[in-house]
Formats: sequence, C-alpha cells, structure tokens
Amino acid sequence: MLLEGEGVTKRFGGLTALRGVDFKLEKGEILGLIGPNGAGKTTLFNIISGFLKPTAGVVRFKGVELTKLKPHQICRLGIARTFQVVKPFLKSTVLENVMAGAMFGRERGLGLDEAREEALYYLRFVGLESKKSVLAKDLNVVERKFVEIARALATKPEVILLDEPLAGLNPAEIAEASKLVERIRDELGVTVFWVEHVMKAIMGTAERIIVLHNGMKIAEGPPQEVSRNRKVIEAYLGEAVGEVVA
Ligand SMILES: Nc1ncnc2c1ncn2[C@@H]1O[C@H](COP(=O)(O)OP(=O)(O)OP(=O)(O)O)[C@@H](O)[C@H]1O
Ligand SMILES: [Mg+2]
Repeated sequence: MLLEGEGVTKRFGGLTALRGVDFKLEKGEILGLIGPNGAGKTTLFNIISGFLKPTAGVVRFKGVELTKLKPHQICRLGIARTFQVVKPFLKSTVLENVMAGAMFGRERGLGLDEAREEALYYLRFVGLESKKSVLAKDLNVVERKFVEIARALATKPEVILLDEPLAGLNPAEIAEASKLVERIRDELGVTVFWVEHVMKAIMGTAERIIVLHNGMKIAEGPPQEVSRNRKVIEAYLGEAVGEVVA
C-alpha cells in the first residue's frame, strides 16, 4: 500500500468536514474522489498534504505517518498536489514556476541548470514548452492548470493529488487534460489521486472511485458500480451521475 488513511476526521468548530474516512491508494493506480460540493474532498487532500491536521485519524505514506509532518516534508517524501484554485507565481515566467517545483521537490540541491532542464522536461510533457518565457499572469485558465501540474510533477512525486484539474475547461480541453492524467500514470509512473466534478472524464479514466458525501465515505469501487449505487445517486440528486457511464 502506497498511501492509506484510517478514520480521518476533521472538524471546523461545529462543522464536521470529514467523519472517519478510510482510504487506500495502491501504487500505479488512478483513484478518483468524487462527491457533491462541500463533501470534504479538498479537506482530505489538505490533510494528506499536511496543510491541515486531522482532528482524529491517521494518514500513512509507505508506512510513515504524514499527519505529524509539515507540507514541505510531505512533498519531499514524494507527494505532490495541485490546488483547486491554482496559485502560480504570477510575476514569474512559466519556466520559473516549474523550476520552483524542481528545486523544492525530492531532489534537493539541484543547481539552476539542472532545475531548468527538469522544468523544461515537464513543460514539454504538458505541452507548454513554447510558453516557457511567458509570465504566469498572461496565461489562460487551461495553461495555468497545466503549469500547475508541471510544477507538481517537477517535484518528482510518487503520488500526485489533483484537485479538480478539469474545472472550467471546455469539452476538447477536458479530453486533452484527461489524457494528460493518464499519461502521468502511464509514462511517468506516478500514482494519481484525483478529485473531479466532470463525471464523464473521471468515470472514464479512473479505475476506482471513492464517493464522499457530507464528510462520509458512502461508496467505493469501479466506476460502473459506483455510478449505479443508490446512495450515490441520492447524494447527487439533481446532478447527472447515473447517465455518465452508460
Ligand atoms: N478552513 C476551513 N474552515 C472552516 N470550514 C471549512 C474549511 N475548509 C473547508 N471547510 C468546510 O468543510 C466542508 C468541506 O469542504 P471541502 O472544501 O473539503 O469540500 P469539497 O468536497 O472540496 O467541495 P467542492 O466540490 O465545492 O470543492 C465545507 O462545508 C466547507 O465549507
Ligand atoms: Mg474542493
């Protein structure tokens, strides 16, 4: 088991954002995490990546308890994340943004030239090499998302946590970004834990899905099975989860 959580619970004052969530992520898989707005998906990613401490429960990466570590320590162990609201360094170039990932990631002490080479490799991987000298503030939303993914990959993770990488993209961009998620696993060998609202994409790409609702895990399994689950359909009442895999 690469990454696992046991009884992960998070309270914000009177609000319980996560209640006793168990999960396991195996090396080499693409695991999807879905659930209606406010289900606790980003909170779970914040706990795994060390931005929040759980109220109860534990997360382990290759047996190491993450819940005692700081975000930069977790990153150096091999877990990278992207943010739902992407936060590039706006006044830096695309290349500098990705170099920051390379320099603060797992391979400490990279020189500038090596970091530049690494960054260029991941910019090529996401198809943005031609934008390397553009300031991040001048990118469109899709490009910002891909830079964010390149920055996360440049830390050389074993696991990448993707928080809604497809939000705000049009259908053609969604298809391209879904393919990118697959290539992250297939070509780079990085294990993927992926939060997404674009059902068709995540149901078609992830091998296994976990469903959160009101902070609780209500279903887990292959996409076809999860999309037919009665609790899942009820949680998404009014949203078209049932028809997406058909
Ligand atoms: N730092 C915080 N302080 C207080 N409440 C929070 C905090 N972060 C999240 N919450 C609350 O916890 C609940 C879960 O939020 P979370 O962002 O994890 O949901 P989500 O599943 O990612 O939703 P979405 O699909 O809209 O991104 C929500 O009710 C949210 O308002
Ligand atoms: Mg969220």
